[in-house]
Amino acid sequence: MKILIINGPNLNLLGTREPETYGDKSFENYFSQLQFKFKNTSLSYFQSNIEGELIDKLHECDHEFDGVVLNAAAYTHTSIGLGDALKAIKTPVVEVHISNTHAREDFRKKSFLSANAKGVIFGFGLASYDLAIESFLIEKQ
Ligand code: DQA
Repeated sequence: MKILIINGPNLNLLGTREPETYGDKSFENYFSQLQFKFKNTSLSYFQSNIEGELIDKLHECDHEFDGVVLNAAAYTHTSIGLGDALKAIKTPVVEVHISNTHAREDFRKKSFLSANAKGVIFGFGLASYDLAIESFLIEKQ
């Protein structure tokens, strides 16, 4: 099973960015833990602050991975382009968020991705990524 994790804008600052909301662990650190935990799964990681690069990555990775775990961060709430990309590709995408976006500002309640995602997991801190990976593995059982 090959899974790609894609993180969007500002998530390169995890660990120092608003730790009360996003925790104090860097994603690189967390990614190593994920690789250790899911030893039998091939995990890859890509991060960009640029909307077009995220869209390009989704196009590129189509057919290359069994699943994508996508935290598009702020673009979730603004990007029709990313939503269309999810619709255009065949690889299933699980949308994740670290925080419970529905318990925050109203503008975070709207997602342009969810309608074209396989499923959505949010509000469990970094464990949202674990749960998204698990969701692909459960399917294979
Ligand atoms: C986020 C939630 C978004 O609203 C926010 O813009 C982010 C992170 C999350 O993981 O909780 O950057 O996607």
